[in-house]
Amino acid sequence: MSLYKIRRGTAEERQPVAALLHSLDAIAPSVRDAVVTAWVSSWKSSAYQDLRQVPHSPISPGYSLIDHVNDVARNGIDLAERARLDWGYRIDDDELIPILLLHDIDKPLIYARTDDRVISTPVGKAVPHGVLGAMLLQELGFADIVVTTVATHANDAPFRGETILGQILHHADAFASDHAFVRSGVRPGFTRRTL
Ligand SMILES: [Fe+2]
Ligand SMILES: [Fe+2]
Repeated sequence: MSLYKIRRGTAEERQPVAALLHSLDAIAPSVRDAVVTAWVSSWKSSAYQDLRQVPHSPISPGYSLIDHVNDVARNGIDLAERARLDWGYRIDDDELIPILLLHDIDKPLIYARTDDRVISTPVGKAVPHGVLGAMLLQELGFADIVVTTVATHANDAPFRGETILGQILHHADAFASDHAFVRSGVRPGFTRRTL
């Protein structure tokens, strides 16, 4: 079992990956470059021929991860604008947008498609969702807040730091995931009572 390998990929591999991702042009060139390298590394370390084949989750296998990630990016950018304008938060797009675009970077590595369903890979059974992605992002030199927010974003994470970036990711992700669940005929999270 291999967790992942960092791969820059060729220009022919990087360009289509960059074209799939929302709002890359809103971040600094060096950060944009690292976001694309993270996606190429995850994709090339996975069994998927095409990144668009990666599913959002085992219970929403028809919804693509890339569509989900772009949903989360758009939601999070809108929420960040409200937090800035209405509540006075200072939010750096070079931290926000990588968090939104990379929060599920490990899903190509932890989910595999069989003939009729989506199952966990051996890597997915060995390392929690979020933690594996954070390892990859740490290796690529992302800011600590990007690494720690991705590491703790999963629903079953033991805790989350109290940061505005974590708060934005949580709500952007939940809103987008519920959309994917509704589209997939699965009961969305917002209809479940928690506490
Ligand atoms: Fe996630
Ligand atoms: Fe997500």
